[in-house]
Amino acid sequence: KMKSYIDRLMAKMTVDEKLGQLNLVTGGEATTGSVVSTNVEAKIKNGQIGGIFSLTTPQKIRKTQEIAVNNSRLHIPLIFGQDVIHGYKTSFPIPLALASSWDMPLIERTARVAAVEASADGINWTFSPMVDIARDPRWGRIAEGSGEDPYLGSEIAKVMVHGYQGDDLKKANTIMACVKHFALYGAGEGGRDYNTTDMSLNRMYNEYLPPYKAALDAGAGSVMASFNDINGTPATANKWLLKDLLRNQWGFKGFVVSDYTGVSEMIDHGLGDLQQVSGLALKAGTDMDMVSEGFLTTLKKSLAQGKVSINDINTSCRLILEAKYKLGLFDDPYKYCSEERAKNEILTPEHLKLAREAATQSFVLLKNLNNTLPLKKAGIIAVVGPLGNTRANMPGTWAVNADLSTPPSLIEGLKAVAGDKATITYSLGSNLLGDATEQKNATMFGREIPRDNRPEQAIIDDAIKSTEKADVIVAALGEASEMSGEASSRTNIEIPAVQQRLLSALLKTGKPVVLVLFTGRPLALKSENDQVPAILNVWFGGSQATLAIADVLFGDVNPSGKLPVTFPQNVGQIPIFYSHKNTGRPLPDGAWFSKFKSNYLDVSNEPLYPFGYGLSYTTFSYSGVKLSGPALKAGGSITASVTVTNTGNVEGKEIVQLYTRDLVGSITRPVKELKGFKKISLKPGESKEVNFTITEKDLKFYNAELKFVAEPGEFKVFIGPNSRDIKESHFTLK
Ligand code: IFM
Repeated sequence: KMKSYIDRLMAKMTVDEKLGQLNLVTGGEATTGSVVSTNVEAKIKNGQIGGIFSLTTPQKIRKTQEIAVNNSRLHIPLIFGQDVIHGYKTSFPIPLALASSWDMPLIERTARVAAVEASADGINWTFSPMVDIARDPRWGRIAEGSGEDPYLGSEIAKVMVHGYQGDDLKKANTIMACVKHFALYGAGEGGRDYNTTDMSLNRMYNEYLPPYKAALDAGAGSVMASFNDINGTPATANKWLLKDLLRNQWGFKGFVVSDYTGVSEMIDHGLGDLQQVSGLALKAGTDMDMVSEGFLTTLKKSLAQGKVSINDINTSCRLILEAKYKLGLFDDPYKYCSEERAKNEILTPEHLKLAREAATQSFVLLKNLNNTLPLKKAGIIAVVGPLGNTRANMPGTWAVNADLSTPPSLIEGLKAVAGDKATITYSLGSNLLGDATEQKNATMFGREIPRDNRPEQAIIDDAIKSTEKADVIVAALGEASEMSGEASSRTNIEIPAVQQRLLSALLKTGKPVVLVLFTGRPLALKSENDQVPAILNVWFGGSQATLAIADVLFGDVNPSGKLPVTFPQNVGQIPIFYSHKNTGRPLPDGAWFSKFKSNYLDVSNEPLYPFGYGLSYTTFSYSGVKLSGPALKAGGSITASVTVTNTGNVEGKEIVQLYTRDLVGSITRPVKELKGFKKISLKPGESKEVNFTITEKDLKFYNAELKFVAEPGEFKVFIGPNSRDIKESHFTLK
């Protein structure tokens, strides 16, 4: 039915109208590049626009859709996109934080709510999930993904797609997903945004591509080509990527959109003028041109010159029309334009409740010496730091539609949860950033961070005074929301120096200090880890972040998040990730420097906090690993079990992790690979047996010929609370 409908429609379309479908413009509400689309209304009437993004509300979208449906010759409805990344008006924790929950049903629920709110506000297409594997915390966009691991990343990609698209894209409260940024955007050289990637096929297939594939297997309707160059050809014009891999090997049937000016940026990549790069992009498999208008303005000429074919244009046009058909826009172009829904389904108490729950599950307790945490709801709690008194920063980066007025500040959140039982005081303590350059850029880095223009020492002195009567100090430090995210790479990933100086002064008071760390990336926290008794990493937690922080600081919720990405000791260790290869000269376990081994003179090979790490207010003990047998036969399975016991005094959740190692391979294999995880809850004294079934498929990898195989031989299996502190056993794959 879809095919014949679109056949009939396309038979009526002129080349210009077909090219119009390939043109995506911005509605101008939130722009993420230097180009802003112009003459949008006239172009819609002329059939020169296929979709709009960055335009919201049922009223505005209805008005715009009416122009397309009533005034363009063929009445083809527009598709309306938006960056709905971690929630919509109700903002959930940034994706890296959500990944720290390792809680798939929870993550799916957040994507579902995001889809409900966005679709109630007129949107039917989201530029999410972002599934780029990222192993370089200098890269600001590490905040937007699920971290370093292909297995965890793939699990999250699937549930996000399902959350957005539901079981039926025709329902008015579902939206089409767009997997991005295809591909390898997270592997840019030096962690610098938009930078070149150059990677072996082997690493791509085994480590970087799985999450994109998982999202597509889950049914994602569209793909966004990434900005970066891949082995010499930018993704937007990379035929190997967009046709050979995506279409021919993976069988993708949806459409590919470029990133923002991804087409015209290929002029700067050095591939030719706008006409040339537009032709290259179309022929390579980019179907829709976001904002460059290279397709709209040059492809007809290229067609006349025989540089592109009408088949190329037809193929892309059909894919975009199919997406509109799948969304039900031909049946009812206004199905997402319900003012009633916008009134009733956005920022509801249930959505905010979920935001609070999700935030509590995303925090990672990095250190808790002598049970400094939880705090008592009593006495005087001195909040100090530039992030203690800001609301607008709480949603974090890429929260373009978040309601920035509702998140309480940290002081407000603590007061709301502690009630009258405790006194909460506040002092700024330091500016977010100190020196002149930092100050110059400060407005870019954060939303509404209070600032004091007096000398640094005067601000610190005030803060120290404010702590005199305090029982405990809560230092609210770290990055502002826009210090991570797009175009926010850093070479120094420490807490800004001016805040470190404040922290030292606070520690000198001798009072217990709790560092509440706001960040969108792994930071290098060596000196904080050495000196501060308690560190709670709260990332950026969304609309209800600070209430959730209070829930955790006061022990109403026991923290259980685990890091989805390695925290290095210092920036020089980057890239550092748990699933590295062994090398021919590995350092013996626990050793530091050893001559002629693979290591550094000045720092050990160990991360500060390993992948999968996170503490709880209780403690857990792990039994040894039991296997159901000594061997796994092809086609069969083997079960690995441990008993986990809550050995502390409070109930807690634990994320039990399973890793394997392929000891001998036809190519070198990682020292550990995550293959499963389970989140369990245990009362004090309670034990649970946790079982993992391992099949031959779980042991497969892409070999030198890029065949997906499991090779018979010896395997180690590890289970533990993180990628470092594990118990092991072994079996043979027959
Ligand atoms: O979706 C984003 C992408 O992640 C970065 N460039 C702009 C796009 C649209 O806003």
